[in-house]
Amino acid sequence: MAHATNDLAATDIEAYLAQHERKSMLRFITCGSVDDGKSTLIGRLLYDSKLVFEDHLAALESDSKQVGTQGGELDFALLVDGLAAEREQGITIDVAYRFFSTERRKFIVADTPGHEQYTRNMVTGASTADVAVILIDARSGVLTQTRRHSFLVSLLGIRHVVVAINKLDLVDYDREVVDAIEADYRAFADAIGLDDVTCIPISALRGDNITEPSDRTPWYDGPTLIGYLETVDVDDESVAGPFRMPVQWVNRPDLDFRGFSGPVVGGTVRPGDRVRAVPSGRESNVSRIVTADGDLDEAVAGQSVTLCLTDEIDVSRGDVLAAASAPPGVADQFECHLVWMAEEELLPGRPYLMKVGTRTVTATVAQPKYSINVNTLEHLAARTLHLNEIGVCNLNLDRPVPFDPYADNRDMGGFILIDRFTNATVAAGLLHFALRRADNVHWQHVEVDKDARSRLNSQRPALVWFTGLSGSGKSTIANLVERRLHEQGHRTYLLDGDNVRHGLNKDLGFTDADRVENIRRVAEVGRLMVDAGLIVLASFISPFRAERRMARDLLDDGEFIEVFVDSGLDVAEARDRKGLYAKARRGELANFTGIDSPYEEPEAPEIHLDASGAISPEQAADQVIDHLRRTGIIPT
Ligand code: ADX
Repeated sequence: MAHATNDLAATDIEAYLAQHERKSMLRFITCGSVDDGKSTLIGRLLYDSKLVFEDHLAALESDSKQVGTQGGELDFALLVDGLAAEREQGITIDVAYRFFSTERRKFIVADTPGHEQYTRNMVTGASTADVAVILIDARSGVLTQTRRHSFLVSLLGIRHVVVAINKLDLVDYDREVVDAIEADYRAFADAIGLDDVTCIPISALRGDNITEPSDRTPWYDGPTLIGYLETVDVDDESVAGPFRMPVQWVNRPDLDFRGFSGPVVGGTVRPGDRVRAVPSGRESNVSRIVTADGDLDEAVAGQSVTLCLTDEIDVSRGDVLAAASAPPGVADQFECHLVWMAEEELLPGRPYLMKVGTRTVTATVAQPKYSINVNTLEHLAARTLHLNEIGVCNLNLDRPVPFDPYADNRDMGGFILIDRFTNATVAAGLLHFALRRADNVHWQHVEVDKDARSRLNSQRPALVWFTGLSGSGKSTIANLVERRLHEQGHRTYLLDGDNVRHGLNKDLGFTDADRVENIRRVAEVGRLMVDAGLIVLASFISPFRAERRMARDLLDDGEFIEVFVDSGLDVAEARDRKGLYAKARRGELANFTGIDSPYEEPEAPEIHLDASGAISPEQAADQVIDHLRRTGIIPT
């Protein structure tokens, strides 16, 4: 059946293209463990649909002889390139999208790697798929990997699942093996709410039940894999939902034209429809739907268009145009599912960049409510999430965003978290619902404000943040600075690591997560004190750039002054006033900064003090006081 398509392509290209135009498109992903034979299966699909070009075929024959794993027979896995790495290491390491088609449908398949560390790729591939093909090696049955992939598939909202029980040739086409695997899988699928599951016994290598029913499985009377993929009914649910379009850009080539461009990610829109811009809440009517190929009478989910409105309302990039009768919610606190995808664990309280729709905001994650054991589906107590762990957490954003729950709309409720310094994607997430508590806590207006308080003090409030290794001299210098300021009649307060850890933060230790929380609390306290009009001196190792940046972001421009007390490790260790370096070297104190816990030096501190002994602490304090004068914090 697949072959005829390309025969037509050879003789009548116009007719071939016309036929393609009308065909529906199915997106699916393949998931499986390293050895389940995914690449072979995809190679087989490409081969059977004759989309393999002649020169590739010649190369395949010779490669199969040289590096193939099939004793000189065609090794279909070699077709699926991406691939230098795969050939060398025998694993697939990136999501590769491949296109093929049969007479009835066009297909885009996301080939997602099976190695556990590549959950990220699987999530990427799954987020747009209609169907998941889960491969199981008939010799090994349902594995943890299979359960993890199935759980993710269910979580990410893929409703149709094919379980391809592969390598039947290696179990003598034994029906009992297949039945046992099917029973095992269905029990798990029921537990995670996957209800459309079709099990197909195949051999990707030999071609059994791929395009034609196999003689070697007379006991199987279900569809072939291609047969299933050609006919499965996947009417796009997002088309049925209310209209949604995140605005990617405001299109204003001249004064006469103003349109809003973006992808329609939900529902249908027609000229005359009433739409609301979210979050502003302004409403208008659609006057035109503009595309490169002319105006449309209607646009549906999946299309990208430019909308013109009848009124000049304010809409910017990142806003969502939505059906006025059923607009999305707007919130800045959520419960969500999080799939952690970075080597470094989640640090609750650390600000990450969050991309949701066409917006990028800053978000912090609270300590997880629980993580999920993908084998047993148990909820486990969790303080953090490690690579590939899945958990449920609360999320705090720095500003409200338009959203729908992921279960209603994948585009409006899906997001990723990005590390602000490395730019790596660290997590994928799914919004469940907005936390109501945010609606019920409002800012209370106060009459006496920061300006009024600081006028009375004849100073501008500031947070002077001393960072450096233990023993670098932070506290000594901060102490001297406070004394000078005090002598000159300024109102100050000194927050010191050792002291705060006796009270407010006595529940915290020195793991990365606890240090993040330590600095978060101190930064919030610092902000309150700055609001009270004080010059606040904070002396903390504060080893991470991300949290020092968070403290900076809490304050107004010019209020945060970062002072790097730079002694170098050797000098700090040689001083060792508290004997802690010696303890750490003896292995009696774990996670000691500079020894077995990192210190990230400031990249652009306002003040960089040489604390190696070249200048005295008094001279260092002078430098800080000078800076405060020069920048107008205190009068000259
Ligand atoms: S921070 O890393 O979270 O900013 P903080 O400045 O509050 O640390 O506390 C550092 C002080 O705690 C050090 O000066 C030292 O006296 C003490 N301390 C005890 N254990 C450790 C440790 N493992 N690493 C660093 N400092 C420690």
